[in-house]
Amino acid sequence: MSVDPGRIQLTSGDITQLRVDAIVNAANSSLLGGGGVDGAIHRAAGPELLAECQTLGGCKTGQAKLTRGYRLPARSVIHTVGPIWQGGAASALELLAACYGNSLKLAVDNGIRTLAFPAISCGMYGYPLDQAAYIAVREVMDFLAKDDRIETVYLVCFGEEVRQAYEQALQTMRGG
Ligand code: APR
Repeated sequence: MSVDPGRIQLTSGDITQLRVDAIVNAANSSLLGGGGVDGAIHRAAGPELLAECQTLGGCKTGQAKLTRGYRLPARSVIHTVGPIWQGGAASALELLAACYGNSLKLAVDNGIRTLAFPAISCGMYGYPLDQAAYIAVREVMDFLAKDDRIETVYLVCFGEEVRQAYEQALQTMRGG
């Protein structure tokens, strides 16, 4: 399976600043805001985002829901809920993979062509970065190989440790 390397890009910094069709939020199942990237997205988008989230009835782990982006440069936000790391159950791996797959599917269904992911579950939810980076890269590569409607996926590296984990995963998955 081969995916044009340019379709998966690593980018450093704050996801809320990115001018893409959609940014992905690592939310909790209430969708009513939190800390980490969730807090940053709500602060940058403004209170209208919380108002829309309040109409959605929450989101199950591994699923994804779409809102507008309001004051963000991104037109839309895809809210997904990662698993909480509890010592390596297989279900956590499947749920983290589902976050990526369901977010990408929702993006395609809504005409989104460029989107950016934070490292879902790798902050407060405690998922080991190296394992999560492999899952992220594998799921994104699999999806892009089967569907050419997504132009570019940005994997946002909030810190050098995150960048290194993604670089390693990309190298391994690309067979380099
Ligand atoms: N831009 C990009 N990445 C960011 C930003 C930002 N502004 N802020 C934090 N991150 C990174 C973190 O460094 C981490 O790599 O996002 C990744 C995910 O971390 P968390 O935001 O803690 O998300 P998660 O581990 O999935 O935990 C979700 O945290 O904020 C709450 O409501 C949220 O309860 C939920 C939980």
